[in-house]
Amino acid sequence: MGRVLIDTVGLVKDYYLGTHTVHALRGVSLRVEAGEFVAVMGPSGSGKSTFMNLLGCLDRPTAGRYVLDGEDVSSLSRDALALLPRASALENVALPLLYGGAPRGDPHARARQGLAAVGLAPFETHHPNQLSGGQQQRVAIARALINEPSLILADEPTGNLDTRTSVEILSLFQQLNRQGMTVVLVTHEPDIAEYATRVLTFRDGRLLHDQPVTIRRDAQAVLATLPRGDES
Ligand SMILES: Nc1ncnc2c1ncn2[C@@H]1O[C@H](COP(=O)(O)OP(=O)(O)OP(=O)(O)O)[C@@H](O)[C@H]1O
Ligand SMILES: [Mg+2]
Repeated sequence: MGRVLIDTVGLVKDYYLGTHTVHALRGVSLRVEAGEFVAVMGPSGSGKSTFMNLLGCLDRPTAGRYVLDGEDVSSLSRDALALLPRASALENVALPLLYGGAPRGDPHARARQGLAAVGLAPFETHHPNQLSGGQQQRVAIARALINEPSLILADEPTGNLDTRTSVEILSLFQQLNRQGMTVVLVTHEPDIAEYATRVLTFRDGRLLHDQPVTIRRDAQAVLATLPRGDES
């Protein structure tokens, strides 16, 4: 068994609405090893986002334990995905370097590399409203990666995107995963889940299934079969 990155034991999350209690998670225990690519599925309201928010330390469990990489979970980034509308793509990507204490190297040079890595080098001076939805999503991903995290948590990252743009984002995640990054991604779509190596299915706040993906899709190969859009 490899290094355990995520270890949850009996995670419970209740939301209190006046006198009413919503049992969003009813005891979820699971382990994810470093280097896995996990898809989280399940019907609306089954607790997927609640679970992701706990994994990302955006919220605290009502009960249960969460050990991230064997230690304290507070070091994880809490940056929202929203881009700053008045800043260029480059400035948006450089942002975490500017408020993260003394940056290593030139922030703009590193941000430029980050943008190039998601295929947006020619767009560095564009503002978010001058970019397509998929390009904005890639700027947000470049920004999230600029401090070199070892875990990516993505809640429906392909939610409103067309097929080709979705597969481009999955291709990026598969590439990062091959470089050793652990990925946990929520999706409603079974065919998107097939880009992962393992699928967790939630139902009514519980983990219903935990299955390996037997025939994994390769985003690069799928991209080659899709007609090119106009963008980048
Ligand atoms: N902040 C909140 N306050 C009260 N109830 C909440 C809150 N967030 C979620 N819930 C409730 O908790 C349950 C699980 O919600 P959650 O958002 O985790 O579901 P989900 O699986 O992500 O659904 P979707 O696929 O629609 O995004 C639902 O019944 C939801 O209404
Ligand atoms: Mg959700």
